[in-house]
Amino acid sequence: MPDRYDLPAGFRWGAATAAYQIEGAVGEDGRGPSVWDTFAARPGAVRDGHTGAVACDHYHRYPEDIALMKGLGLDGYRFSIAWPRVLPTGAGTVNPAGLAFYDRLVDALLEAGITPLPTLFHWDLPQALEDGGGWLNRDTAYRFAEYAAIVADRLGDRIPAWITLNEPFVHTVFGYALGTHAPGRALMFEALPAAHHQLLGHGLAASLLHERGLEVMLSNNLTPVEPASDSAEDKAAAEAYDALHNRLFTDPVLLGRYPDLSALGVPDDIHGAVHPGDLDLIHTPGLDGLGLNFYNPTRVAAPTEPGGLPFDLVDIPDVPHTAFGWPVVPDALRRLLLHLRDTYGKALPPLTITENGCSVAEDTDPDQPRIDFMAAHLDALAQAAAEGVDVRGYYTWSLLDNFEWAEGLFSQRFGLVHVDFETQRRTPRASYAWYRDLISVHRARYSV
Ligand code: BGC
Ligand code: BGC
Repeated sequence: MPDRYDLPAGFRWGAATAAYQIEGAVGEDGRGPSVWDTFAARPGAVRDGHTGAVACDHYHRYPEDIALMKGLGLDGYRFSIAWPRVLPTGAGTVNPAGLAFYDRLVDALLEAGITPLPTLFHWDLPQALEDGGGWLNRDTAYRFAEYAAIVADRLGDRIPAWITLNEPFVHTVFGYALGTHAPGRALMFEALPAAHHQLLGHGLAASLLHERGLEVMLSNNLTPVEPASDSAEDKAAAEAYDALHNRLFTDPVLLGRYPDLSALGVPDDIHGAVHPGDLDLIHTPGLDGLGLNFYNPTRVAAPTEPGGLPFDLVDIPDVPHTAFGWPVVPDALRRLLLHLRDTYGKALPPLTITENGCSVAEDTDPDQPRIDFMAAHLDALAQAAAEGVDVRGYYTWSLLDNFEWAEGLFSQRFGLVHVDFETQRRTPRASYAWYRDLISVHRARYSV
């Protein structure tokens, strides 16, 4: 059986973070407010009333964090750019100090021999754009493309590949359908225009990035969906969920069409959001790589209550669960990759795992569950590669403990490096040393 040491030559090792989760400095150097500042200030929205106002203070401590990355021997670092730092009101006047921060960050990464892999949107929409309807407003797609071009014009000379969006599924469903993330709208399936507008923004931005000679990726949170039983009802429910979670975000980009959403009561034009020509704008630029954020498979049963959602999400018993309560099923990653290859065939670009990791309780030392999680997922990845899937890299989530959205700062710790949020002291965990050694052994295997 192939294992992680058999991953192909040239495989890229990385770690990932996101702006609002680590930067802090929300009021500094002209940054405008984002939807997450507003949402986190709402009583009860985030566990323990935490916010990302300081988070890991990475805005000031990035040299120390890059030294930690260098210590791991990373090839690449995936981070996100805060749109409200660059354009405090989302459009119009550029904030030079915001761009200058990313300029310094990128130069320091290159200096350390690490390739920057920026994500242009990881959920921190400028509040001014939300005030105009946010991603429910078609104009936001055009504002996103303008912002992408501004950033690419500044940093594109040093960064070959770019990710447009992070997990439009999670942002649409948690942010606009359920309201458990910013901007806190609870529109159920009326939220889906927000998905279309993000994809449109992706397509418009992708064209502009390509015009500048840059490669474009999109990071989706994909989950293999399994029916709870062989019954026709459970299978239909699983299909409805798969369309919503996975195919809604991959079919338009890779195939130029939306899946059938009628089981969700959503019309083909997604409540009027899809205009003639939109699918071309989304599909034609193509993707140079598909980013996959993988955490867990999803088991789905037919709904027990009539008149509600057309599916129930059920637990997967008899497997370990992370501190977050997510089932750990590493082979599901291998199955997902083979499924993508079989479903999309030649339309599937090379794959990169742009997030994978798990939260571990703070007092778990050594953080062996994280090591076991990463090792097993990397083995599954190597097996998929041996079966012919083109997978180019792995970015673990996350370099540092950070602001875990609605879960706040303390409860879900995803870092290879522990962060004491009182003192900002960083302490590498056992998983840090483990990952460093894995990278160096794998690299040595292919060097002559
Ligand atoms: C999913 C994860 C996702 C998370 C977002 C969970 O329910 O299983 O894959 O990243 O929600 O916070
Ligand atoms: C997101 C990250 C998040 C992680 C763990 C993904 O859904 O992209 O921002 O911290 O999963 O929930």
